[in-house]
Amino acid sequence: MRMVDIIEKKRDGHPLTEEEIRWFTTEYSAGNIPDYQASALAMAIYFQGMTDEEAGALTLEMAKSGDQLDLSAITGTKVDKHSTGGVGDKTTFILGPLVAALDVPVAKMSGRGLGHTGGTIDKLEAFTGFETEISQEQFIELVNKNKLALAGQSGNLTPADKKLYALRDVTATVDSIPLIASSVMSKKIAAGSDAIVLDVKTGSGAFMTDEDDARALAKAMVDIGNSIGRDTMAVISDMNQPLGRMIGNALEVKEAVETLKGEGPADVHELSLTLAAHMVVLGGGAASAEEARDLLEKAIQDGSAIEAMKTFIAAQGGDPSAVDDPELLATAKDRVAVPAPSSGYVTEMHAAQIGQAAMLLGAGRATLDDEIDHAVGIELEAKIGHYVHEGDTIAWLHANKDDTTAIRTMVQEAYTFSDQQPDARPLIFDTIH
Ligand code: URA
Repeated sequence: MRMVDIIEKKRDGHPLTEEEIRWFTTEYSAGNIPDYQASALAMAIYFQGMTDEEAGALTLEMAKSGDQLDLSAITGTKVDKHSTGGVGDKTTFILGPLVAALDVPVAKMSGRGLGHTGGTIDKLEAFTGFETEISQEQFIELVNKNKLALAGQSGNLTPADKKLYALRDVTATVDSIPLIASSVMSKKIAAGSDAIVLDVKTGSGAFMTDEDDARALAKAMVDIGNSIGRDTMAVISDMNQPLGRMIGNALEVKEAVETLKGEGPADVHELSLTLAAHMVVLGGGAASAEEARDLLEKAIQDGSAIEAMKTFIAAQGGDPSAVDDPELLATAKDRVAVPAPSSGYVTEMHAAQIGQAAMLLGAGRATLDDEIDHAVGIELEAKIGHYVHEGDTIAWLHANKDDTTAIRTMVQEAYTFSDQQPDARPLIFDTIH
């Protein structure tokens, strides 16, 4: 085969065969296709799209390009969850213990954060000693024993996707639905779970700012998952403002612990219970989402969800006493008030900008080598729909740096105020099966 023929075929709008996609993925991973030809193909896909069959083939080939976890030694239907990323999204470490409390196994691979969205591993490392560099044997043993374990992404998971994604990042070809869908799903398939619940975010803090694009991406991923034999469904959820009140590692852990005790903010509780209910149904723990939800509410009320969190943290070397006493988690030197610059209803929040502000405080990374400060972040007092008077505190910066003037301004500028009360917006826009 010749790469130039494959590029030309796609450029002219014809679907590629499975063999052509396999040949490209294998040869590109092996370093036999130059980046300029791979870029040309990515751009042709960007403009011409892919059929479901092509996207499915690309997903499978990228999944096969590196290690594939074999989780068959885990009893039961393993359910994974993936979020397309958002500010203040701490649902992964709420869902894990919640679903595990109902005896549905969760074998989770997670990553670290880059940019304005934090990574689950960074957040959980707020528990002193928590370790995610565990062997595959240990991972499987822990899931069998406690129904929950979380491991860092293996070095050689989907190398073809890693290489192609890096190339797309610098060739303006990231925003292609079939390319995003196959990139995300290749990692999910390689991570080995039987069923997948996707949380596709839409809004100012999301990758997909437009709701219709989010729906199209969700549909593409659900179709790929189901066509490859993994039971997959998606929820489209709002990211027009940060989720919950806390952004930052230890702060988000505190909010997750509150949620598992039934004392969390309404949006965090609602989204967590919705996603957890779908996971429980796919994992065979309940016949319907309603039944699953009742069982999950019970697990919160009778304390089994918070107990599952403690067991999980302790099993991976973390100090679980911070679950009972969150004051033991890292605390920043200062708590600096951010005053409302004017009076009015909060009508909009630029979630990504608030995420950037948290990153500048030290809660996130600008480059992969940056160190994270677990203690710092942002606590929101005002969210969309709240009325504030000029000078009221709209947010607090948990800061370890002395000069936070510019960050305070950034947070103020992320808010839009108006005399008009905004309409209530849904938290969950749609469910895609
Ligand atoms: N996240 C991914 O993993 N892949 C993409 O292509 C975009 C976002």
